[in-house]
Amino acid sequence: MKYQLLGKSGLKVSELCLGTMGFGTEAGWGADEATAFKIIDKFAEEGGNFIDTANIYKLGTSEKIIGNYMQNIGVDRDYFAIATKYSLKDNESNPNASGNNRKNMMRSVEASLKRLQTDFIDVLYLHIWDDLTPIEEILRGLDDLISQGKVNYIAISDTPAWVVSKGNTYAELMGLNKFIALQIEYSLLQRTPERELIPMAKHFGMTLLPWAPLAGGALTGKYLRGEQGRIKPESKRLNDTSTTITKEVVAIADEINISPSNVALQWIRQQDIPSIPIIGATKLSQLEDNLKVTEVLLSDTHVERLNQISKIELGFPGDFFKEAGVRQNNFGGFYDKIKKS
Ligand SMILES: NC(=O)c1ccc[n+]([C@@H]2O[C@H](COP(=O)([O-])OP(=O)(O)OC[C@H]3O[C@@H](n4cnc5c(N)ncnc54)[C@H](OP(=O)(O)O)[C@@H]3O)[C@@H](O)[C@H]2O)c1
Repeated sequence: MKYQLLGKSGLKVSELCLGTMGFGTEAGWGADEATAFKIIDKFAEEGGNFIDTANIYKLGTSEKIIGNYMQNIGVDRDYFAIATKYSLKDNESNPNASGNNRKNMMRSVEASLKRLQTDFIDVLYLHIWDDLTPIEEILRGLDDLISQGKVNYIAISDTPAWVVSKGNTYAELMGLNKFIALQIEYSLLQRTPERELIPMAKHFGMTLLPWAPLAGGALTGKYLRGEQGRIKPESKRLNDTSTTITKEVVAIADEINISPSNVALQWIRQQDIPSIPIIGATKLSQLEDNLKVTEVLLSDTHVERLNQISKIELGFPGDFFKEAGVRQNNFGGFYDKIKKS
């Protein structure tokens, strides 16, 4: 496992992040504590240090399992970079027990610290934008948590690009800590973040943390083979388009003798932006398979085949810009002469 710096920070995190949304057996799926411990053991043994959880995952069980793991003899909590999130309602029930507001932020972080049995959170994400709280209130609250030593870095997930841009610009002007990473759904079945979110993340030097990089398991090809998993048959992850894309993933995997999951994860890693896929596994064997991606390199031809089969329309203004780029004379012939970094 190699390490990379998270966004424009000095925090060293592993090139794969361990997703723990499936830690806990509530809602009829997921890994029990003993299996989760084996999964974290294996991840750490291979050099992984970056763990992703949230207050909401299995209503707190995921954080509790990670907290219990850290209390094991021989485990060094400081080795790990633990990321958690606030915004969604967990066990409390009052008008401010959810949302991005400062009151919920402080309440949620205190509860996460208790469940994780730790004094600090390495990375705190805003989980999902509530479309209510002013971004200034959010940045000020997150910055206070850093000043209090309860949080080391802040990041953001599931939020429109214009909101993140406004937040980071405000933080820069006010000398506050900025969001250093962006967590979004991104995979061969979900490329729409290429329209606004990914260019925005590049601009701010934010590391991309793609969630559901295997589209919940659809891209492993197991549903084509008739195997069972957590995805319901009516899910759009199993419709005609996704089936066509998954078949291409499986075909390439067979050609180069690696697993389909490795093809789908590596396609993300070979995109033109620093990213760390969040690998979710509910079984040790799945994690072992996914970890092998660190040894994989896809050829340009294979990447291009995957790009083509999963291609999306950029819509306006992306497609309009591309069209304008073809008619470069519209820019007075200077377009090609300007070196773009
Ligand atoms: N910010 C957000 O809003 C958000 C949303 C969702 C997730 N997340 C984070 O992202 C993480 C990953 O999301 P995800 O779990 O949806 O990711 P995913 O990698 O797309 O799906 C993981 C699922 O795929 C199956 N799987 C994984 N590896 C496999 C393999 N090698 N062979 C066969 N099947 C395999 C398993 O399904 P079965 O359990 O069915 O076997 C596993 O639960 C989460 O744990 C969480 O930390 C964040």
